[in-house]
Amino acid sequence: MRNFIFGVIVVILIIVVGGLAYTLTGFVNTNSDHSPGPAETWLASHAMDASMEKHAPHMQSPIPATDANLIDGMKFYTMNCALCHGTVTKQPSDVGRALYPPAPQLILQPLDDPEWHIFYAVKHGVRWTGMPAWGKVASDEYIWKTSMFLSRVNQLPPAVKQAIGK
Ligand code: HEC
Repeated sequence: MRNFIFGVIVVILIIVVGGLAYTLTGFVNTNSDHSPGPAETWLASHAMDASMEKHAPHMQSPIPATDANLIDGMKFYTMNCALCHGTVTKQPSDVGRALYPPAPQLILQPLDDPEWHIFYAVKHGVRWTGMPAWGKVASDEYIWKTSMFLSRVNQLPPAVKQAIGK
């Protein structure tokens, strides 16, 4: 039994030291000008979904989805998010494409996530990506307004479409 435990500890040490050596001697590519592989994409997206399921409060927006609030959200998006996620007039973003991982184009390919999910991602950001934690610089009120705009991109009321100019 003692030998077995000793063997397990040696194997763990080899994995840890080997992993550190592999990483610290430059074998891990840290460039952002290639695309994430399928295993990395699969693992990262499942980790994000599981983390949100565990940490994000499943709450309703405390702010009503009036035309004025959706227009506020659209303006906030244009000023702060379009740079990476594409414009409200459906122009894709070159900066978003150049990021690693690339930024999803939220107007061209709208999310089908619930509002609380979008709110949580926007407020807390996404680690190891270019997605900032907007809760550090914006109020919950504006994050809700932007989240409700994003969750309705395909069914915006006429007044909001008019404000966008389409
Ligand atoms: C500097 C670039 C950048 C800016 C600016 C930015 N984002 Fe992001 N965002 C990203 C990236 C990159 C991801 C992808 C993260 C990933 O792969 O999981 C992301 C992910 C997201 C997601 C999660 C999408 C999903 O698949 O669930 C939402 C929602 C989002 N951003 C909304 C916003 C909003 C709203 C703003 C503005 C207030 C914003 N982002 C500003 C880069 C950016």
